[in-house]
Amino acid sequence: MRLLALETSCDETAAALVRDDFSVESSVVASQAAAHAEFGGVVPELAARMHLERISSVVAEAVASLGGLSGELDGVAVAKGPGLVGCLAVGVTYAQSLAAGLGLPVVGVNHMSGHVLAARIEDPSLEPPFVALVVSGGHTDLIHYQAHDRVILLGATRDDAVGEAFDKVARMLGLPYPGGPAIDRLAETGDALRYRLPRPLLPDFAFSFSGLKTAVLYLVRDLGELSQQQVADLAASFRLAAVETLCTQLEAAVEHTGSTRVVLAGGVASNQLLRQLARERLEGIAEVTIPAPELCTDNAAMIGAAAWTKVARSGFDPEPFEVEPGLRAYV
Ligand code: KG4
Ligand code: ZN
Repeated sequence: MRLLALETSCDETAAALVRDDFSVESSVVASQAAAHAEFGGVVPELAARMHLERISSVVAEAVASLGGLSGELDGVAVAKGPGLVGCLAVGVTYAQSLAAGLGLPVVGVNHMSGHVLAARIEDPSLEPPFVALVVSGGHTDLIHYQAHDRVILLGATRDDAVGEAFDKVARMLGLPYPGGPAIDRLAETGDALRYRLPRPLLPDFAFSFSGLKTAVLYLVRDLGELSQQQVADLAASFRLAAVETLCTQLEAAVEHTGSTRVVLAGGVASNQLLRQLARERLEGIAEVTIPAPELCTDNAAMIGAAAWTKVARSGFDPEPFEVEPGLRAYV
């Protein structure tokens, strides 16, 4: 069984072929980052227009190996939310029209479940219960994924998402958008102990990154003209503070729930230090599954993984569905 999966919720136009054993036959991601970079962030109108321009060729590339669509697909999956309304609409409309034309069923999935269930591409035997740390441009959530239809939010950020903090700090340091990968790369050459930054720890597994961001802002202001080494040291110091904060709350959540399985998900989970430190801190306590870096940032293979999980439980969607830009829960 094979699905064509689509993802258009933010600034990545993506399509993938995913089998029901979670193997990925193709995964094409057309990033719009360069187009949004000059504005310092995603411009919703521009993003929707670019999805519209690119989706046909992205799908054509993803299915190229099949030599034609009819007879080779068992369904179409698409992210229906959360995300930017105009962007989601491009993917959902395209998926429903294509499926109608080919006489195929459609399944709409939650983009955030996609991030979490990308871990099943890494390890198809992964089953709940597990604790997941979901870290992206819009989310910083600690969840207790008890069953596919029962997900408890243990804690979340009270202000900025951690990916947003990476992007904003990168901007202060004069690094290009998206800032997360740029900081991660530069931090490798910096001294993470040069600048002491706060590690905000809140009760109830909550997070707050605005204080850390402001601390970097004041430092940058006080330091004046920055040398290349100072920029690298600031990047490294910020990365360490953010990652240590995430890992401390993750450890607390694992202890609280008694979990022996942990998943890291979302764009920030491609961060090299987070991947390393989470594994180190949980060694002997929990088995940690982290999708490959290209499956952590937005992609369509993760939508296919979430779709097969949903189809196994409740089948395809019986009726056409609408986009759900504000979708909050993970089920
Ligand atoms: O999951 P994602 O691709 O899109 C959303 O659904 O938001 O996450 C994007 C976020 C951006 O804030 C980006 O800067 C951050 O993930 N990011 C990283 C890294 N790669 C992407 N943050 C830290 N280190 C990275 N290597
Ligand atoms: Zn995402």
